[in-house]
Amino acid sequence: MGIAISLSGLAGAVMKEGGMGVISAAQPGFRMEGFDRDPAGKNLEAIAREAEKARTIAGSRGLLGLNIMHAGTHYAQYCRQAEASGYDAILSGAGLALELPAYVSDDILLAPIVSSLRALQLIVKTWNRRYSRMPDFVVVEGSEAGGHLGFSREMLDQGSCPDLSGIVQEIKDQFPEIPLFAAGGIFDGADVRRIMAAGADGVQVATRLIATWEC
Ligand SMILES: Cc1cc2nc3c(=O)[nH]c(=O)nc-3n(C[C@H](O)[C@H](O)[C@H](O)COP(=O)(O)O)c2cc1C
Repeated sequence: MGIAISLSGLAGAVMKEGGMGVISAAQPGFRMEGFDRDPAGKNLEAIAREAEKARTIAGSRGLLGLNIMHAGTHYAQYCRQAEASGYDAILSGAGLALELPAYVSDDILLAPIVSSLRALQLIVKTWNRRYSRMPDFVVVEGSEAGGHLGFSREMLDQGSCPDLSGIVQEIKDQFPEIPLFAAGGIFDGADVRRIMAAGADGVQVATRLIATWEC
């Protein structure tokens, strides 16, 4: 969660419990001195510094991811910084991250964030053809996910968005080999069990954690 909601405090705590903590690359350096003069430079510094702090909190436990929005500025630079700073994974949505594998090596896990089977099919086809690479995992966001969605305002207003379990089932049927993490409106254990019964391998949770000290 940007801006500066998901930093090392939250990511480190999640990692310590054995999950993947995710830091947001949406202006992580905005509290740093000099940010107004050099935002990109300070964000690059913060991407590195927050990773170190998260690892200090978590010890050797868990995995660390960086969420980089495709629609944002300095996308390629932030991807390279993620790898240089030792992140385990890059998660990328807010647009189609078709060229993401060009910016990093095979040593870092890559996960597109999608809201439809069609978007994932296009990414898989492009990554395969251009880079001989498959997504290492995928995050599937339904219409209840906060933030940046693959649904139009009209669909949201009319309540005509497809249901998250339906999208999960469709994607899992087509790509059973890609680990799938579902996101959007998942608040408690019952929600987790329901979506895992629909085929998800795990979940991504955001809003539920906003009111914690770690955020
Ligand atoms: C305050 C807030 C900020 C968010 N910022 C980002 C972001 O910077 N990049 C992104 O890809 N998703 C962002 N999201 C979406 C979350 O990563 C997540 O997929 C989604 O909110 C999950 O649904 P939930 O909030 O119901 O748990 C944000 C969500 C919230 C609530």
